[in-house]
Amino acid sequence: MAQIEPQTFHALLFISLFACLPSLCSCHDNGTKIQGMFVFGSSLVDNGNNNQLRDAIAKADYLPYGIDFPGGATGRFTNGKNVIDLLGQHLQLPAYIPPFTHPSTRGANIVHGVNYASGGSGILDDTGAVLGNVICLNKQVENFEHVTLPELEQQLDNKAQQILQNYLFVVSSGGNDYSFNYFLALPTANLTLQAFTSHLTTTLSHQLKRLYKLGARKFVLMSINPNGCSPSAKARNPRRSGCIQYVNRANHLFNHKLRTLVDAILPQMPASNLVFVNAYKVIRDIIKNPASNGFVDASNGCCEVPSIDEGGNGILCKKGGSICANRSNHVFFDGLHPTEAVNAVIARKAYTSIRKTEVYPMNVKQLSQI
Ligand SMILES: *[C@@H]1O[C@H](CO)[C@@H](O)[C@H](O)[C@H]1NC(C)=O
Ligand SMILES: *[C@@H]1O[C@H](CO)[C@@H](O)[C@H](O)[C@H]1NC(C)=O
Ligand SMILES: *[C@@H]1O[C@H](CO)[C@@H](O)[C@H](O)[C@H]1NC(C)=O
Repeated sequence: MAQIEPQTFHALLFISLFACLPSLCSCHDNGTKIQGMFVFGSSLVDNGNNNQLRDAIAKADYLPYGIDFPGGATGRFTNGKNVIDLLGQHLQLPAYIPPFTHPSTRGANIVHGVNYASGGSGILDDTGAVLGNVICLNKQVENFEHVTLPELEQQLDNKAQQILQNYLFVVSSGGNDYSFNYFLALPTANLTLQAFTSHLTTTLSHQLKRLYKLGARKFVLMSINPNGCSPSAKARNPRRSGCIQYVNRANHLFNHKLRTLVDAILPQMPASNLVFVNAYKVIRDIIKNPASNGFVDASNGCCEVPSIDEGGNGILCKKGGSICANRSNHVFFDGLHPTEAVNAVIARKAYTSIRKTEVYPMNVKQLSQI
């Protein structure tokens, strides 16, 4: 073997030191200690879990979903990246968080977290029943507890209580509890909006406390979007103009109670931190003034969405259907879900905003540095 010149040796040493640094030092980007994310919720954050579900109606495993995502359709309900992908980039996580139901989400692939989210699901067990098959939030938490956690402890050779404080627990659920539960049952239900909403946040608080008991310490709670402004809500209420207020009022009420929960739950979860991200406000601000945010169309979905009369459901894109020319200037990709361009604004605000009306009581960057 040839002798290595001292200069070459120094260069090699330098390169190998440099290459090792990120793995030697568990913190990066000015002190974030975050190793990964565990993600729970609905289609806003589902990144392919429903692909594996038989009989699920809420699927996005076909084009034009993923038209702007490397590799195409993945099951994400948008043209490109969802808010979790983009938040992961801000946190400089090394990879996309894998979907729980994919067979390769095992072993070393789980060390940066797992995504359990399921399109059509809600906080309540019976939400989304009309959509064939969904994984409800309780089941998502159960999957974390019984499947991922033992394997993660084995992978990292440490106890959950030591490991989990370096992960974010992101929850984005609740919209479907209105769309695919409360409003569907409204004609016969005897529960007021107030009582139903309290039931949702109480149920969610039990789910958060369950995660806390398992070792979770850093939570990001995403608000519900203003779904009354979505193309599908408007199409269902053709005689009203503008956003559908009764839907937005319900979504807003939930968000108000969720923000209140951030303070109310702390005494029961010592040494934990929760951040409320007001995606509702971020999207509402974009819709009120699209141009100032670089958007041109804030009312029409970008893809072709067949109505119920046309054999669709008014929400999902037509398989192989047409799409708008410029996805970056549309707010909505289909009848309900925002484009990557909107997700990018939400993720940026979640990570860096200093407005308490957008992130409360701190932003995700500050949360990650605790
Ligand atoms: C790093 O953190 C310190 C203290 O929190 C802050 O003053 C500084 O602006 C941060 N630097 C960057 C590049 O974020
Ligand atoms: C109405 O309330 C009663 C008593 O609380 C309950 O048993 C019943 O299931 C409710 N009906 C509906 C449709 O929710
Ligand atoms: C698409 O829209 C974005 C945002 O409004 C704009 O910056 C870009 O120039 C547009 N692209 C084309 C090809 O028109």
